[in-house]
Amino acid sequence: MREALKSGISENPELQNITPEIKPVTAHFGRALDLGERGPMFAMAQALRPVHRKLARVYGYDKLSKSLARKYAYCDFFGPNGLVASDKLVLGFVLFAPNTTYPQHAHHEIEESYISIGCAWSESNNAVYAPGYLILNRSNHEHRITTGEVDPCLLAYAWTGPSERLATPGMKLSRTRRSGRRAAI
Ligand SMILES: [Fe+2]
Repeated sequence: MREALKSGISENPELQNITPEIKPVTAHFGRALDLGERGPMFAMAQALRPVHRKLARVYGYDKLSKSLARKYAYCDFFGPNGLVASDKLVLGFVLFAPNTTYPQHAHHEIEESYISIGCAWSESNNAVYAPGYLILNRSNHEHRITTGEVDPCLLAYAWTGPSERLATPGMKLSRTRRSGRRAAI
C-alpha cells in the first residue's frame, strides 16, 4: 500500500471536481469525529473535521435497501473516483450509523484494509476491534461489519488491486448473511 501511495503521489495527481453530497448518515459525522479525537486516531479525526462537509458521500451500489441507505455512506478521497485522482490505490472513509450491520460481501481482486477512527466495531462477529486496530481482508474474503448500539462508526479504508478493478469494483452484496459463497464482484 505504501508503494502504491508513493507511486500515486509521485505522479502529481490532479484534483477532481466532485460535488459534495450529503447522505442521511452524515448526521452522525460530528459525533464520530468527537469520538475519534478522544482516541489513538485523534490526528486523523482532527485532520478530517475541517473538510468533512466537502466530501461526496456515495453508496457504491445500483440497488440498495432503504434501511441501509439511511445507515451508511462512504467517500473516496484518493483513487480513480476520488477527490485526488489516482489509479494506484483507493483511500477513503466510510461512516456507519449506530446499530448497523453492513451485509456480507467480498471484493474480487481487491485487498481491503480498515482502521477505525473512533469506534469499536465487529467484523463477521469474530471479535470487537478497538479504534486504531487494523483489519486486512484479502481478495474474495467474505466479511460483514456490525457497529455498536450507541455510537456511529467511522472507518478509514484502503484498497489495492488492478487499476481497472479499482476504477469499477462492481460492488454487490452477497445473498446470504452468514454462509454466502457467492463472492461479490
Ligand atoms: Fe469490505
